[in-house]
Amino acid sequence: MSTIPLNQWATPGDPAGDPSTHERLREEIKTLLVEQNAVLVAHYYTDEAIQALAEETGGCVADSLEMARFGAASAAETIVVAGVRFMGETAKILSPDKRVLMPTLEATCSLDLGCEPSAFSAFCDAHPDRTVVVYANTSAEVKARADWVVTSSIAVEVVEYLMDQGEAILWAPDKHLGAYIKEKTGADMILWDGACIVHDEFKAKGLRELKAVHPHAMVLVHPESPKGVVDQADVVGSTSQLIKAAVASDQDTFIVATDQGIFYKMRQAAPGKTFMAAPTAGHGAECKSCANCPWMAMNALAPLALALRLGDNEITVPPALAEKALLPLERMLNFNKV
Ligand code: 13P
Ligand code: SF4
Repeated sequence: MSTIPLNQWATPGDPAGDPSTHERLREEIKTLLVEQNAVLVAHYYTDEAIQALAEETGGCVADSLEMARFGAASAAETIVVAGVRFMGETAKILSPDKRVLMPTLEATCSLDLGCEPSAFSAFCDAHPDRTVVVYANTSAEVKARADWVVTSSIAVEVVEYLMDQGEAILWAPDKHLGAYIKEKTGADMILWDGACIVHDEFKAKGLRELKAVHPHAMVLVHPESPKGVVDQADVVGSTSQLIKAAVASDQDTFIVATDQGIFYKMRQAAPGKTFMAAPTAGHGAECKSCANCPWMAMNALAPLALALRLGDNEITVPPALAEKALLPLERMLNFNKV
């Protein structure tokens, strides 16, 4: 089959508005996935071209917990993770014998960046009596220091379970998610001071104003958002939980506070319903809602094709580190069996 010259794709991003190149890349990726016994696992925040390909090729489009579960259960030899780096690392830790590729290794996460492993380790050392629960959006090093890893879809349930065991909790890194869990459960929690640069921008005042214009709209909020936004939510949940809520609801209009990538799947799953982005900016701003994770946006067709073609951007995690990080990750995956 014909391939695109490599030098044309030195940087991430698809050539704007070129349908034939787009289609050629899609076909090339499909062929390479089959040839390499590879499966594409994508997050809802990635470009819709990536999400569509994952669906068409028998991969999955999911929240971070489901991505981890899917990769671990897959019989494929190669897992191609379209998302951010912690998702690729999680796939590798759970499947050390598989090859894990990503369209780019530059796709990080502000929560991961804001939780430097040695500073985090010192924080844990200062509170030795606490059970360490970390969000999946962390490095392998931080996970290796934790007792539990959770995603937003099961964080409340895990903390309730630990509370019932009489445990006090050290939580990292997202302060908004931590505060939400603490308020919801009443658990004894101390929080690391981290935030997602995307969700942190949602504005409580702007949301109140939008709700006043659309009083019957249901408000769906990801818990990485600030308290003033979470407090106005009808449903707070992971990306998958927000999509399910939109499908299950009798309402036909929704205001959504999370990355705009989610609208592709929401519109597909709940056709005919109206979805509006919650505001991230005040009066006079050029962009009223600009919730778009810059690292998720790095996952484009061209670098994905390139990674598969060259075997580039392979995720590696040192085995001794992976072994330590595996334990709290397995606790998460086995949680519903506890
Ligand atoms: P989910 O687990 O809800 O998919 O969230 C991942 C994430 O990075 C949200 O910003
Ligand atoms: Fe990280 Fe926020 Fe991007 Fe999610 S949206 S990957 S939490 S920076």
